[in-house]
Amino acid sequence: MAPNQQIRPLTACVNAQGHLAIGGIDTVTLAGQWGTPLYVVDELTLRTACREYVQALATAYPGAALAIYASKAWNILALCALVRQEGLGIDVVSAGELAGALQAGVAADKIYFHGNNKSEAELTLALTAGVTIVVDNWFELKTLARLGPQLSYIPRLLVRVTPGIECHTHEYIQTGHLDSKFGFDPNEIGDLFSYLVDQPGLHCVGLHAHIGSQIFELQPHQDLAQVLVDLYAKGLHQGLPFCELNVGGGLGVCYVAGDDPPAIAAWVEAVAGSVARACARAGLDYPKLICEPGRSLIANSCLTLYQVGSTKTVPGVRTYIAVDGGMSDNPRPITYGARYTALIANKADQAADQLVTVAGKHCESGDILLKDVLLAQPESGDLLTVFTTGAYNYAMASNYNRVPRPAAVLVNEGEASLILQRETTADLLRQDCLPPRLMGMPE
Ligand code: LLP
Repeated sequence: MAPNQQIRPLTACVNAQGHLAIGGIDTVTLAGQWGTPLYVVDELTLRTACREYVQALATAYPGAALAIYASKAWNILALCALVRQEGLGIDVVSAGELAGALQAGVAADKIYFHGNNKSEAELTLALTAGVTIVVDNWFELKTLARLGPQLSYIPRLLVRVTPGIECHTHEYIQTGHLDSKFGFDPNEIGDLFSYLVDQPGLHCVGLHAHIGSQIFELQPHQDLAQVLVDLYAKGLHQGLPFCELNVGGGLGVCYVAGDDPPAIAAWVEAVAGSVARACARAGLDYPKLICEPGRSLIANSCLTLYQVGSTKTVPGVRTYIAVDGGMSDNPRPITYGARYTALIANKADQAADQLVTVAGKHCESGDILLKDVLLAQPESGDLLTVFTTGAYNYAMASNYNRVPRPAAVLVNEGEASLILQRETTADLLRQDCLPPRLMGMPE
C-alpha cells in the first residue's frame, strides 16, 4: 500500500536566509507581519489533498461519488469556500458549522448534517436550508417525523448506524464500536427500516457510518464497507428508496516520523473497491458513494508559528523552552497525548541537536506542546514552527487563561491572505456582563 509520510506542507522549503518558507514566503516575514501564534495554511497542499480524493473516487468507484469535507476539523469561511471550489461537499455538526458552510456558498445538496443531539432549532435550520440530515437516534427521528410534514418538501435523510467495528486509535476518537454514543445499534435496524417505510413524510436515501479518526489500517474500513452494503441491501429489500452510502472519514496523517498512514488514493481505492465489490456480489446498483475526510484533507496543509520566550533548564533533567501559545491553540497534546514535529524556523538550515521540551504559556503543568524533541539551539526570540496543525487545532481552541485565539493566513505563490483575525482583548471581554451593582464598593 502506498504510504504517506508527508509532514511538511508541499511548498515548505528552506530559503537562502536559512529560514523556513511556505507558499513562497519566509515564515519570519509572516510572523513579523501577522504576529504569533499564527496558523499558516498552504493553499497548494489543501487543494492537492482535495483533488486526490476527487480523482481517486472517480478512478476507483464505478458509480457516482462525492467527497465531503468533515468541517469539524476546521470550519472557517475561507476553508469551506476553498473546498467548495474543489468540488467537495461539507459535513457539519452544529448550527454554527452549518452557517459557515452556507455562507461559504456550499450548495445545500452537498451539505450533510451530523450530530447525536441536534436541537430542534438546529433541525429546523437544517430543514429550512434543505440539507441532508444524518439521523442519529430515535429521538431525532421522531422529531423529524413531526417537523417534516410542516415543510413544503420531503426532508432527505441518511441513517447513521453503529457498525460494531473496532479500530486502533485513541479511545476518545473511536466511534464505530458498539458501545458508542453515535448512531443506531445494529439490533434496531429491522425496526428502524420498518418505521421509515411507514413515513411518507421522510425520504431516507441511505446509510452512514464512521468508525473513528487517525486510523492507519485499511481493513476496518473495508469491513465497514461490507457491513454497510449488507444493511443497504436489507433496506432496499424492505422497500426503502436507498441510493447513497456514506462511509465516513478517519484516514490518519503523519504527525511524526514513523507514522505510516496509507496515501489518500490507497485509502479510497481500498474503501471504494470494497463497496463496489460488495455491491456487485449482492447484485445491487452502485449507490452514490460518499466519504467525509477531515484530518487527511486539512492537517498537513497548516503549520503554527510561535515565538520562543522564556527558557528553563532543570539540571540533569531537561530544558524547557516556552512559546507564546500552547494548549489554547492546540489542545491535542494535552487531550490525546498527541505528538508533533517542530523546528526552529529561523534556523531551519542548522542541525537539530538540542534536546528540549516545548511548553505552552498556560497555567497548567500539562501544557506541553512537544516533549523531548531535537531542535536547533533555541533562544528567546526564535520562531518555532509546529507542523500538521490544520485539523482539530483552531477547531478545538479555547481562551483558557483569557488568551486570545491566533490569526490564520492562507499562503500561495508569495501572497498571504488573512482568513481569520487574531482575537483582541475586546473580543475576549465582549460577552461579559457587569451588573452595575458590582461597580464600586458596597454601601
Ligand atoms: N465523519 C464523522 C461523522 C466524524 O465524526 C468525523 C470525525 C469525521 C467524519 C472526520 O474524521 P477524520 O477524517 O478527521 O478522521 N478531535 C479529535 C478528532 C475527532 C474526530 C471527530 N469526528 C482529534 O483531534 O484527534
